[in-house]
Amino acid sequence: MEDSLARPLSPAGLSCYVAISQFLGLTVIAMTGAWMGQFRGGIAWQSLLQFNVHPLCMIIGMVFLQGDALLVYRVFRNESKRSTKILHGLLHVLALVIALVGLIAVFDYHRKNNFADMYSLHSWCGISAFSLYFIQWLMGFSFFLFPGASFSLRSKYKSHHVFFGIFLFILSIATCLLGIKELLLFSIKTTYSSFVPEGILANVLGLLLITFGLLIGYILTRDEWKRPPLAEELALSMDFKNLTEGESPSGSQ
Ligand code: HEM
Repeated sequence: MEDSLARPLSPAGLSCYVAISQFLGLTVIAMTGAWMGQFRGGIAWQSLLQFNVHPLCMIIGMVFLQGDALLVYRVFRNESKRSTKILHGLLHVLALVIALVGLIAVFDYHRKNNFADMYSLHSWCGISAFSLYFIQWLMGFSFFLFPGASFSLRSKYKSHHVFFGIFLFILSIATCLLGIKELLLFSIKTTYSSFVPEGILANVLGLLLITFGLLIGYILTRDEWKRPPLAEELALSMDFKNLTEGESPSGSQ
């Protein structure tokens, strides 16, 4: 308990890694915008440009915002657990809404142009990632934000929530890589092998997406950067556990 009171605002190294991850995330978004703007004619809801809304929204929602939502517990170390949980949930909602706009854009574009739906590995991984992400949000909300779940139920579910959270983030990045590859094959199939600028830009974008994922994964898995419970949270979790189970707690949820 004293440890948590005496801890520095942010452990050495963490701020630096978080700053690099944000720079990388914003670069990935800017590069996707540049790809769509410079090489694919721009972005619009009407006309053939409607497709271009898809990659941009998916990368903002399913990669950048999802990644940032995962970092919330490492970055906001001294705010109350409840406010941090709410911020975590809100960032995921924002990610889901922006990703939904991206999905509507691609389905609508396919419908208007009479293209087949859901035939590619990319689309299968994509629809699975989005649906599971939505389910994960609903489960997280019911267990952690909605009052009513007991202490031991929350504890049991927490490890599953963390596992699926990391899995969905990896699946989202992998889906983007498949999408990049597919778009390149549709748009520059005949010139791709001659190192054209669009191909190089998209390949670098793919590498930066992987690097962004690695950095977030690194920050999340460093034990010394995990958020230790605040003194009042330890006391509260003790009361909550005693009330719901009549046992002593082993950590806070
Ligand atoms: C996690 C992020 C993504 C998800 C969940 C996702 C999901 C989907 C889904 C469900 C479809 C099928 C639409 C239909 O059949 O009408 C689709 C199509 C497509 N997406 Fe994505 N996408 C993501 C990211 C990207 C990115 C980053 C790109 C390119 C840079 C991209 C390129 C494409 C292309 C070219 C198609 C049309 C061909 C196809 O149906 O496979 N996607 N996406």
